[in-house]
Amino acid sequence: MQDIETLKNENMNLADKIYIFDTTLRDGEQTPGVALTVDEKIQIATKLNNLGVDKIEVGFPASSKGEIESAKQITSLGLNSTLVGLARSLRKDLDAIIDSDLEYVHTFIGTSPLHRDYKLKMSREEIVDTAVDAIEYAKDHGLTVEFSAEDATRTERDFLFEVFNQAVSAGADFIDVPDTVGILTPILTHELITDLKDNFTTPISVHFHNDFGLATANTLTAIECGANQAHVTVNGLGERTGNCSLEELVMTLKSAYGIDLGLDTTRLYSLSTLVGRLTGVKMPVNKPIVGDNAFAHESGIHVHGILNNASTYEPMSPEMVGHSRRIVLGKHTGANALKAKLKEYHIDLDEEQFCKVFDDIKSLGDSGKCVTDDDLIAIAITELSSA
Ligand code: KIV
Ligand code: ZN
Repeated sequence: MQDIETLKNENMNLADKIYIFDTTLRDGEQTPGVALTVDEKIQIATKLNNLGVDKIEVGFPASSKGEIESAKQITSLGLNSTLVGLARSLRKDLDAIIDSDLEYVHTFIGTSPLHRDYKLKMSREEIVDTAVDAIEYAKDHGLTVEFSAEDATRTERDFLFEVFNQAVSAGADFIDVPDTVGILTPILTHELITDLKDNFTTPISVHFHNDFGLATANTLTAIECGANQAHVTVNGLGERTGNCSLEELVMTLKSAYGIDLGLDTTRLYSLSTLVGRLTGVKMPVNKPIVGDNAFAHESGIHVHGILNNASTYEPMSPEMVGHSRRIVLGKHTGANALKAKLKEYHIDLDEEQFCKVFDDIKSLGDSGKCVTDDDLIAIAITELSSA
């Protein structure tokens, strides 16, 4: 692993401070079928705060009374994380932010031809004027302003720069680049973020969707090119296929580059579990970092390696993220794994019994069955009692 100074000097243009902006409670809640109660939002916000994220987007206050209520209640908790509310570039949406006692607004307007011509039916000039009016109104009311050019990655580069320039002149504190339909690739991200960093001194944020499964890779690339902030969600939730996953980004930065963002990563697994339970969106077993299989091993060769030195087949320890290691039995099980399992359950077998149990487990696996620890105990007891 290299140190940060080496990375900064040699291959990357890392920002001095990288902010983690979590939008589980806003974009994450836009996952089809997900709706959180005030109490559930409070539980998640509290855990995000304890993890140490810099900013929490608590919702979209203009969208419902419940959203204003949850924003107010989360604000009253006095968390360390900065709380953010989403608003379209409309004064009534900004009033909802103010009514929610929030001090930081994430305001946006669509800038791409598709958004201008088909959704908003506005000219380029009208888009700029509307964005500027909203930013000035928000600043006049004492808000910190993050401005997003929705669908930035499908917006003509000259117009994107014009909108961002006007947003900065109007007082935007952060400018955010949404890849609204996830069409970036790492190399396109590199080009775009480098161009933005070369032309703007205002902190650059990225909000990348996962339609092609590249949200984490693209966000990481943006950070390598100097992006100051990443929008993320727990478990990668969000519209359609979701957003950049909080746990994937944070652990890649920590594990691959040694960049410690000051988050207590040992809380990641329990946060993921809570969000999975409250949203009803269960993670696939092979989800990186937090999936059931992230630290599970079955094949004899792998288990042998793990038992001697876990790093052989684990790029990080499960303890780093509050997860745990599992040795799973099945048709690929080796003798070392079986011995370790039997030891775990304090089961002593002689060599003949051991061979019999080993064969039975393989046969069960070969028949297409999943071999649980209960199966092992049952097989071993049968063997012991037949002796
Ligand atoms: O994906 C997106 O473009 C958004 C905007 C509201 C910023 O979520
Ligand atoms: Zn989004």
